[in-house]
Amino acid sequence: MEKSSQPKTRRVLIASSHALFGQGLRSLLEERKETGVVVVGMVANLEEAIESLHSLDPDLIIVDYDDEQLNRDEFLARFVEGEKEQRVVLLSLQSGKEALVYDRRSLAASEIDEWLQDITISEESQDETPKMNQPKTIDGNRRRNMKHLVIAGILVVIVTVGLIIGLENINLLPVQASAQAVPIDNLFGIEFKIIAFLFSLIIVFMIYSIVVFRRKPGDTEDAAHIEGNMKLEVLWTIAPLITVLFLAYLGGQSLAETMRSDPKPLEIKVIGQQWSWRFEYPGTNVVTNIMMMPVNKQAVLTMTSNDVIHSFWVPEFRVKQDILPGGEEFERQIRITPTKMGEYKVRCAELCGQQHAEMRAIVKVVSQEEFESWIIDESGLSDDPVERGMQWTEQYGCLSCHSTDGSKLVGPTWKGVFGNQETLSDGSTVTVDEEYIRDSILNPGANIVQGFSNVMPANFSQQLTDQQITDIILYIESLK
Ligand code: CUA
Repeated sequence: MEKSSQPKTRRVLIASSHALFGQGLRSLLEERKETGVVVVGMVANLEEAIESLHSLDPDLIIVDYDDEQLNRDEFLARFVEGEKEQRVVLLSLQSGKEALVYDRRSLAASEIDEWLQDITISEESQDETPKMNQPKTIDGNRRRNMKHLVIAGILVVIVTVGLIIGLENINLLPVQASAQAVPIDNLFGIEFKIIAFLFSLIIVFMIYSIVVFRRKPGDTEDAAHIEGNMKLEVLWTIAPLITVLFLAYLGGQSLAETMRSDPKPLEIKVIGQQWSWRFEYPGTNVVTNIMMMPVNKQAVLTMTSNDVIHSFWVPEFRVKQDILPGGEEFERQIRITPTKMGEYKVRCAELCGQQHAEMRAIVKVVSQEEFESWIIDESGLSDDPVERGMQWTEQYGCLSCHSTDGSKLVGPTWKGVFGNQETLSDGSTVTVDEEYIRDSILNPGANIVQGFSNVMPANFSQQLTDQQITDIILYIESLK
């Protein structure tokens, strides 16, 4: 302890065959006389060093690690293990070596202090501990860096585990109600854990660095300029590559599993249009806007759109599919095997215009028996054309744009419209009669009522039979 009260003079000998290396280092050390470091001489090889030992009596020999004309192992053998011990510091201009790094252009003043301090600390500890083959300063740095890495590593593990446990207790996903949801949820679980780890890795190292390595008060120097680290760069390129390939493989497997077809699935045709859903059950004449499904039986949904791109999505079933206009050529399929009875909701998951958010329909998963009796009930049609007309307007989605109670939606209301005089967008007037309504269904863009725009699907002529159109007209006529 007495020693540290009055800094002892440290006699430094520099060994390098490059004159510039020695001169640069000498002026750097002499700028900091207060640390008690004195450069007593410079030698170009081992022989000169041995010769000068007697006259110069150095405490510390700094060896140019990058100098190929010097044999640093001989230096270590001669001085560290020799009969009179001198300490040897290997100094390199490049990082990644088993040596202290010295780069005059980038070494900040604060760091010079640090490695001069290293020399002092190690020298004192050398008095107490048995001699070692390697220069101690390197061990000191290593040990300190190791400590930071171990602490940060432990924090990463704690934060990762905390995130996984914490978020698994929040129900991130709705009820799992289909066989196709199983591989999707498994994949989500794996990805979630990987993401929790990556998040922790980044956040912990960032916050740890901000807190532990923050600038000390009064320190106005620049930080060290680090050129690069080959090992680290290779690691952070290869590791994400392997992770992404692994996830792509799992993703491919899950996709195949969600598309696997059961023998004899139930066929359902799904038609989307602005802004309603229609479901048809081929082989029956059932057309509805509620989707009924028997539990534990695979349904294959063949889907098209009448106008723009929509997207069929029941969150509890997980699978989702965009549906496209353009007829059979653009039909898309998904397979759903419902595993839980109950009522769910189809949502449109593609922004498709004004009422996109309202484009929903009920999905009911029922027992096989209940499904069969529902099909029989639905097939029966009424004898009353007005009642049939009402049924068609529900099934074909007319009511998402036309009200029957006088309120104004995207299209004109039907309440009391029959027989009215309407002003068209070109200023002319027209009487709403059977002919006008038929024309408006078959060719909706031709005569637009003032105050409305041309948004009605133009292909009802292909969807509706003449009888259905007549039923609809009679139904509208009945809405006084
Ligand atoms: Cu259809 Cu959004």
